[in-house]
Amino acid sequence: MASEQGIQRLRRLKEEARQGGGAEAVAKQHEKGKLTARERLEKLLDEGSFQELDMLVTHHAHGLGMDQRYALGDGVVTGYGTIDGRLVYVFSQDFTVMGGSLGRAHAAKITKVQDLALKTGAPLIGINDSGGARIQEGVEALAGYAEIFLRNTMASGVIPQISVIMGPCAGGAVYSPALTDFVFMVENTSHMFITGPTVIKAVTHEDVTMEALGGAMAHNATSGVAHFAAENEDACLQMVRQLVAYLPQNNLEDTPAIVPKDDPARTEAALDTIIPASPNDPYDMKQVIAGVVDAGSFLEVQEHLAKNVIIGFARMDGAVVGVVANQPAEKAGVLDIDASVKAARFVRFLDAFNIPIITFVDVPGFMPGVAQEHGGIIRHGAKLIYAYCEATVPKLTVITRKAYGGAYIVMSSKHIRGDFNVAWPTAEIAVMGPEGAVPVLYRRELEAAQDPAARHEELVSEYKQAFANPYQAASRGYVDAVIEPSQTRPVLINALQMLQNKRDTNPAKKHGTMPL
Ligand code: HXC
Repeated sequence: MASEQGIQRLRRLKEEARQGGGAEAVAKQHEKGKLTARERLEKLLDEGSFQELDMLVTHHAHGLGMDQRYALGDGVVTGYGTIDGRLVYVFSQDFTVMGGSLGRAHAAKITKVQDLALKTGAPLIGINDSGGARIQEGVEALAGYAEIFLRNTMASGVIPQISVIMGPCAGGAVYSPALTDFVFMVENTSHMFITGPTVIKAVTHEDVTMEALGGAMAHNATSGVAHFAAENEDACLQMVRQLVAYLPQNNLEDTPAIVPKDDPARTEAALDTIIPASPNDPYDMKQVIAGVVDAGSFLEVQEHLAKNVIIGFARMDGAVVGVVANQPAEKAGVLDIDASVKAARFVRFLDAFNIPIITFVDVPGFMPGVAQEHGGIIRHGAKLIYAYCEATVPKLTVITRKAYGGAYIVMSSKHIRGDFNVAWPTAEIAVMGPEGAVPVLYRRELEAAQDPAARHEELVSEYKQAFANPYQAASRGYVDAVIEPSQTRPVLINALQMLQNKRDTNPAKKHGTMPL
């Protein structure tokens, strides 16, 4: 009898915890197009796999009405489950309980799963939907955030960390997602900012809406804070599952290989004609990537930001690789500040998690202009060089067309430990393009020429003869082979197999002083 009563009591408590902030608050949440914390976890995780922790935790705060404001779980649902059968830890803030605000107990629930994720080497996925630091708990709330940030930093490069923003994420609270590897946002319902529209209006007199200031597209296309944007929560959670399928559990484990569906020996005839006759005409590098990687396997990351560089995950004969590629169809594929930072951070993620990097190069150089120089293109471009130089994972490079100047060096060249560098016959490897080089080299001759335009043409043609090909580099071993474009897939798959036991190290140090 006693045990029966005990079970009844437990069931009542669990039921109470599952109610969150109550039916009215849940209805409000649904009206906004948002799911509840538990509904989100159901969609994120494999069916029936979620094991909740700390369901009965409550806050122990007093004063400011907190004695009456009490909810089992304290506004966050935490635990673990699986995605495609692989362990992940999760927390999901419950906006229906005190606006999902974070106090001491709420934070302790999050840090408990952070600690478990780090100890057991499994990804952590945090769903953020919160009014931020719980005002009534004062410094206790701030301490809670600090402990989360510390663990985000300690876990960086050890386990993949993913943040999913599904409501407000304001003030210092934004720094936990910012410290994690990938940030997902949902159009119209998720917002991230340090200070909201009201404060901005008061301080700088600017008028801006929540969406324009800190919505999904603001952070995906402009600030670079976020990596994925989804139309709604369902789509967003499916995207998280897709991403997890490419990630290793931790920095010591292999990425999940799948039985390949695509033929590793497949050649792609279309690549033999993809480079336009005129060197200044664009083509779509995404078609090159699609033709080379396992069919349909490319998952683009930060597709809305700095489209002049493409980054993403793909599979080659079933094994996960990271792809970094210049995009000649966007700003001629030039490297500017945003492109450099976007690619650099991704290269560092790939290296930290032992994922081979395939780099496709068609780059006219770093972006000229006062805004770029004053914005720190030197400092930001250096990040990309640094990231590639320090990376010890297998690095494969395909130069499809232009590889000019510093941009030739930075894009995983042989000189910075590229392991397998190939060029297509259309490659142009030079200090700069003919249009830039000829006036510098032949200024006096051009001034003296009877027909400067005709002479200019001749000199450009001579320059191209000398440099607009891969053979000077090939004769020095700076590219390992010149290959027919259609052969790129089998050649790279073969090289990936050749490099699979690659070992390389950097000098022992506490850490480098990367230009930040
Ligand atoms: C305590 C909070 C809260 C908070 C919301 N609530 N935010 N309680 N601390 N930070 C409560 C509300 O009082 C309300 O309780 C319930 O949550 C729902 O909030 P509403 O305002 O009714 O919802 P909505 O209209 O959707 O507006 C959501 C909101 C707004 C935009 C998030 O609540 C808001 O502006 N909150 C404050 C945001 C903020 O400035 N946070 C601090 C950021 S600084 P009832 O009982 O009425 O249901 C920060 C520092 C972190 O976080 C430091 C780290 C270094």
